[in-house]
Amino acid sequence: MDILGKHGAVEKNATLLLGLTLVVVSIGGIVEIAPLFYLQNTVEKVEGMRPYTPLELAGRDVYVREGCYVCHSQMIRPFRDEVERYGHYSLAAESMYDHPFQWGSKRTGPDLARVGARYSNEWHVEHLTDPRALVPESIMPGYGHLANTELDTFGIDGHLKANAAVGVPYTQEDIANARADLIAQATPDASTSGLLSRYDKVTVGDFDGDPRRITEMDALVAYLQMLGTLVDFSAYDAEANYR
Ligand code: HEC
Repeated sequence: MDILGKHGAVEKNATLLLGLTLVVVSIGGIVEIAPLFYLQNTVEKVEGMRPYTPLELAGRDVYVREGCYVCHSQMIRPFRDEVERYGHYSLAAESMYDHPFQWGSKRTGPDLARVGARYSNEWHVEHLTDPRALVPESIMPGYGHLANTELDTFGIDGHLKANAAVGVPYTQEDIANARADLIAQATPDASTSGLLSRYDKVTVGDFDGDPRRITEMDALVAYLQMLGTLVDFSAYDAEANYR
């Protein structure tokens, strides 16, 4: 059968051409989409990930509100230069509790996905207050006002609830204790047993250099200090995956 000779008939009949095009496109679509229905999860689980503590979540809000993402990405790509500079490339699971995620692509400043624990709290406070005091050539704006603005601690339970609604595994207990946990994390010598029983790998204490009150600077620094610290990458061979 001269099947190739018949394409003229298809090309001259718009309805037939449309119908056959849809058939071909559907086959491609099914091949791509159908397997996804048989996967348990499209994000590979990794050890160590947990939802943000209430203080970190409040700090993340400040980060988003102040537009830090306009100049900073949180996505280390699997290239040698990036891995050598910033550490293990980012895994999808590391942002699974981020709503919205902060990957970004604009890097006026460095990537911050693993900035946690790289500097002291004092360094962050000084840098955020006056970046050029520490990095003379910096073009980052100063955010000193954050240290003078007390953090609004009411409503944090509602924020956890909203995150739970979109799939972050906060329990009723986490939500009920949100404000107490937030205050405990930023208050030196506070009783933190409840907080530490609910969240792993939490840094507690004063973050902004003023232990008497909880400011937006406390929250932001607590957030920055946990970035990239939850997953233990000593078990992963970073190089094996991008060669
Ligand atoms: C106009 C762009 C811009 C904005 C907006 C900005 N930054 Fe930066 N940031 C930079 C640049 C450039 C650097 C590199 C020079 C320096 O260290 O100051 C930097 C450096 C940093 C560093 C040090 C990173 C490292 O690995 O050394 C941190 C932390 C940081 N910024 C946090 C923030 C936070 C938090 C915000 C929002 C409150 C913010 N930045 C907003 C441009 C920006």
